[in-house]
Amino acid sequence: MSVGIPDIDADHKRFICLINDFIRAIVERMGLLEIGIRLQLVLEDAERHFAQEEKLFKKWQYPHALRHANKHREVIKAVHDIMEEAKTYNFDSEWKNAELAIKDVLVSHVMDEDMKYADFFHRHPEVSGRVHRHRKTA
Ligand SMILES: [Fe+2]
Ligand SMILES: [Fe+2]
Repeated sequence: MSVGIPDIDADHKRFICLINDFIRAIVERMGLLEIGIRLQLVLEDAERHFAQEEKLFKKWQYPHALRHANKHREVIKAVHDIMEEAKTYNFDSEWKNAELAIKDVLVSHVMDEDMKYADFFHRHPEVSGRVHRHRKTA
């Protein structure tokens, strides 16, 4: 799932770890509170990470920044919807659905959408130059 941009890959790695923690809570049949806390952590990390990506898009002058930011809003809404629905869950099988839905919405965002800016980033060396210059002065 690498986009070939070290800071973002590190972000995605942590993000996947949090999703795995959430899934583990379901598989190990932890209490609802524990599962809920982990799902909340996934949501908070997604919001933080999306904001970070959108900041980079500005710096790169990424032409599809607005479209991508809208996709982020859709993902956050989907996670909120899953969380809302999960409040009514009583059975393990229902949590299994939430697990699959969360994985699907978040992982497919990285695979489908993030890969598009990765492609843009790598095809425009002046963009990566802009990022490296920024790093040096930061
Ligand atoms: Fe991302
Ligand atoms: Fe993204």
